[in-house]
Amino acid sequence: MKTVIEPFRIKSVEPLRQTTREERERLVSKAGYNLFTLEARDVLIDLLTDSGTSAMSTEQWAAMMRGDESYAGSASFFRMKRVVQDLTGFKHVIPTHQGRAAERILFSVMCKPGQVVPNNTHFDTTRANIEFTGARAVDLPVAEAMDTQARLDFKGNMDVGALERLIAAEGPGSLPLIMVTITNNSGGGQPVSMQNLEAVRGVASRYGIPFYLDACRFAENAWLIHEREAEYQHSSPREIARRMFSLADGCTFSAKKDAFANIGGMLCTNDDRLAAQETNLLILTEGFPTYGGLAGRDLEAIAVGLEEILDPDYLRYRIASTAYLGRHIASHGVPIVEPPGGHAIYIDAARMLPHVPRTQFPGQALAVELYRHAGIRSVEIGSVMFGGAARHELLRLAIPRRVYTQSHIDYVVEAILEVYAYRDRIRGMRIVEEPPFLRHFSARFDWAQ
Ligand code: F0G
Repeated sequence: MKTVIEPFRIKSVEPLRQTTREERERLVSKAGYNLFTLEARDVLIDLLTDSGTSAMSTEQWAAMMRGDESYAGSASFFRMKRVVQDLTGFKHVIPTHQGRAAERILFSVMCKPGQVVPNNTHFDTTRANIEFTGARAVDLPVAEAMDTQARLDFKGNMDVGALERLIAAEGPGSLPLIMVTITNNSGGGQPVSMQNLEAVRGVASRYGIPFYLDACRFAENAWLIHEREAEYQHSSPREIARRMFSLADGCTFSAKKDAFANIGGMLCTNDDRLAAQETNLLILTEGFPTYGGLAGRDLEAIAVGLEEILDPDYLRYRIASTAYLGRHIASHGVPIVEPPGGHAIYIDAARMLPHVPRTQFPGQALAVELYRHAGIRSVEIGSVMFGGAARHELLRLAIPRRVYTQSHIDYVVEAILEVYAYRDRIRGMRIVEEPPFLRHFSARFDWAQ
């Protein structure tokens, strides 16, 4: 059979609430044209993020009932630790309430002011947590990633030549670690090849610099390696994931993505000395090392989710359904980041709205219009989120895992094509109020003059 179906059926449902265009115009104006400040009940299809928005399985809910809520030595922690160690091989597993808590602890321990941390592309929280320590976050994506239209298999790769040049310019002692984000979220959800991970490992070993993965979407990256890197076409996602982790010295992980959990994260490392320092910080702000800011039931959900996410039937469906959205809008001319990646489709808003200059935030303008037109919430990944460090002006349509059916996605396709038809009438925006860090979460906007 050619048809790829959702490899699950639905047992519990949540109603969606329809609103009118007039209502949405009023609501989004009241929210300062920032979709983060809308109430979720006013959103019809929520593609803001794939983070913490997954539908859990019956097995996950069942495991949650077995959660051991002991303050110290929880059986749920040891169960999760076994699953993580079996998958990653890392010696120390430190649970955190989500990915950014792992980042804060890792960078507080490893980074000093004036140092430099390269990544294929830092995510917003990674960049902010590095900069908060006084170190510098540097993006080293491959040159091909600049062209959103280039159809290459691994546009998430790190530019290894640029990494070598950075080390030569700064001195190896100035790099406390090298990070690679799989998949490359801010760079369009594009995968990183095994060959690239091996090359980065080689450089890291040569200069004695620790190599960490930001492993939020490791399973989607593993599946894209399976599909696109010939050497791995006969390897299972689990085998590929194990190989990826074996190349690194540690990882940060947000269980809100590729563990189907609604909350959770972890920090893993093979370094005993670092682990001891990290655990001390963990106790200070997250909690005792066997729960780290999570309930025992959350640890159970993560343990089960990490097994389910590597099911080839799930990953085949996941990647096919993302591509379905991408193909159906791209075939009508909507410029997306090509080729479709893992968790999201990214519209190149600068290309779609050439009459809106970057200083007027084309991604934000498009996000606002898509909400006003059809009640769909998406997110700008461009100059609003990254300021001057933005390489593209993108609108991300992130797809929550196991949540929406194909007809929901058909509705999204129809809405985008309708907005595309009147794109030349979409106006730019300006910021009227902004906080000092991570401004995209709470800035207020208005139409540009
Ligand atoms: N790293 C990457 C690549 C991410 O995509 C995220 C979160 C984090 C780290 C931080 O994890 O949210 O658990 O603290 N990304 C979400 C998103 C928020 O919408 O892409 P967290």
